[in-house]
Amino acid sequence: MSKAKLIVFEGIDGCGKSTQIARLAESLAAMGRSVRVSTEPTETATGKMLREALSGKVKRTPCEMAALFTLDRIVHNKCSDGIEKTLENGTDMLSDRYYYSSLAYQGSLCDYDWVRDMNVNCPDIRRPDLCIFLDIPPKEALERIGKRGEAKEIYEKEETLTLFRATFLRVFETLGDRVAIVDASGTPDAVAARVLAAVREILD
Ligand code: TYD
Repeated sequence: MSKAKLIVFEGIDGCGKSTQIARLAESLAAMGRSVRVSTEPTETATGKMLREALSGKVKRTPCEMAALFTLDRIVHNKCSDGIEKTLENGTDMLSDRYYYSSLAYQGSLCDYDWVRDMNVNCPDIRRPDLCIFLDIPPKEALERIGKRGEAKEIYEKEETLTLFRATFLRVFETLGDRVAIVDASGTPDAVAARVLAAVREILD
């Protein structure tokens, strides 16, 4: 069995990440691997500050958001049940969002190079083994968000999601990380099969 992997999921809001992460966790467990799932923003104090800002309850500048997301990611790596410890224990970690979101979202709204460097040059932020980008047209993403019937977050507008999608694709071209861009329209089963095929390539 290959060593534990950090696999992160990215995509614009409404792309179906939570469903696909749960599906991949099931598939990996069925192969006999030990798996954990975590999310950014985290459940820690920093994550709470971020959620208050994402809901619009507390106003924050893009640079404040970028710094908070980076801090939250360091905590995600280093805390007692975080990424580092999980991988050391031989358990795969699946993360719902990672630094690509900061580069695409905050990088579009404040200084891109600063956001990139703060994340990819941080010794406490590990580079993932694989990033799965669930790619969906922003219109379709908003239709899915609408069907959830929840309050919209500050970034959930077609214009903003279109900008973020384009930025994600540019980030992947320039960063040199291992990224699988997966077509996320279609049934959950069809998308899950595409995700699993990409993950199998990194399991030896
Ligand atoms: P949440 O509703 O939890 O995510 P999702 O829509 O993926 O279920 O909110 C996460 C929001 O935070 C989402 O709009 C993306 C944004 N975000 C950033 O702007 N930068 C980041 O670094 C991260 C991790 C998330």
